[in-house]
Amino acid sequence: MADEDFVVTPWEVRGKVDYEKLVEKFGTQRITSDLLQRWEKHAPLHPMLRRGVFYSHRDFDWALEMYEKGNRFYLYTGRGPSGHTHIGHMMPWMFTRHMQEVFKVKLYFQLTDDEKFVFNDSLTREQVREYAYENALDLIALGFEPHNTKIFLDTEYIHTLYPIAIEVAKRVTFSTAKAVFGFENSNNIGEIFYTSMQAVPAFLGSVREGKNVPCVIPCAIDQDPHFRVARDVAEQAGYYKPAMFYCKMLPSLSGGDKMSSSAPGSAIYTVDTQKEARKKIMNAFTGGCATVQEQREKGANPEVCAVFAYFFNIFEEDGARLAELDQQCRTGKILCGECKGRLAERVLAFLKTHQERREKAKDRLDEYMLRD
Ligand code: TYM
Repeated sequence: MADEDFVVTPWEVRGKVDYEKLVEKFGTQRITSDLLQRWEKHAPLHPMLRRGVFYSHRDFDWALEMYEKGNRFYLYTGRGPSGHTHIGHMMPWMFTRHMQEVFKVKLYFQLTDDEKFVFNDSLTREQVREYAYENALDLIALGFEPHNTKIFLDTEYIHTLYPIAIEVAKRVTFSTAKAVFGFENSNNIGEIFYTSMQAVPAFLGSVREGKNVPCVIPCAIDQDPHFRVARDVAEQAGYYKPAMFYCKMLPSLSGGDKMSSSAPGSAIYTVDTQKEARKKIMNAFTGGCATVQEQREKGANPEVCAVFAYFFNIFEEDGARLAELDQQCRTGKILCGECKGRLAERVLAFLKTHQERREKAKDRLDEYMLRD
């Protein structure tokens, strides 16, 4: 989706994203206070809901209604294994874990090794496979349990996935794929077919259970183009449309447009050492002034600050403490160095625990994997 100021597609997020505009352009629904009140009948609001990090949806109200009538949905989310996992990728997974706990539902997690192979000239099939298993460790380390969490690589579960993929592919014309994804003659045909693979797990729960089961997909808004296609064909293929639950993107730490592997300082990866992670945080882009004196006088701007964004989105769950930090920042009571130091403490502690859990997950991978 291109605009004068920003771009959000499954492959590229650039510029300062106007999330309100994106709701209009993608045609999603806002998560309203009414919907939040309904959620609160099931559980207190998670900070990502209170703060509007998760802010938009498609038909989640329907999925909730089905659930309340005893027709339990399942969750589906995923990762394109083009490299190691960064903290932004884990934002929707953390919330997915929370949803799983609240609603006591199953999760299917798709690792699209096929996607990252066909879309990326420099990655071999062996590399995407290795990254897929590395990424799976990060999911498991977040506390998902094998009895209700199933993970698969597309190429390893293809016997089950392919019959569903062709049901989708048959109903998506090339002109739709071009209109949604902007494909050109130079795109390879694997890229064009791929969206059918990402649609499959939205129906996999129904296929495996032998009856239609609602599906809810929590992820960042960048994935919406795929699911617009999936939703368009769902009913023709005999399934419910998947419901969507969308979050905003965690911004780049370096204040550039996006987190990317070509700009390693822009994101904290789960495999970063303590030293690397600290360095990235201490070099992060902030909303501070050029001199200490100026900042003491005028205060800084948390709205543009990557460090504040990390606190806001993930690392400060306490609302009162976050409000205090906001105030201290705006009034020049706290300087950027101190604030970065506080964030580094949180992130480093998180990484330490996460990396220990990740190590332990290595022995348990097979309990989670679906293969043909
Ligand atoms: P991928 O690997 O690009 O991203 C994995 C998940 O992370 C989200 N995400 C972010 N969330 C917050 N802040 C960010 N900066 C950020 N960057 C990425 C993505 O929205 C995604 O939820 N094609 C997909 C893989 C996939 C998938 C799915 C994703 C297959 N099935 C179902 C979501 C739901 C991909 O390449 O995601």
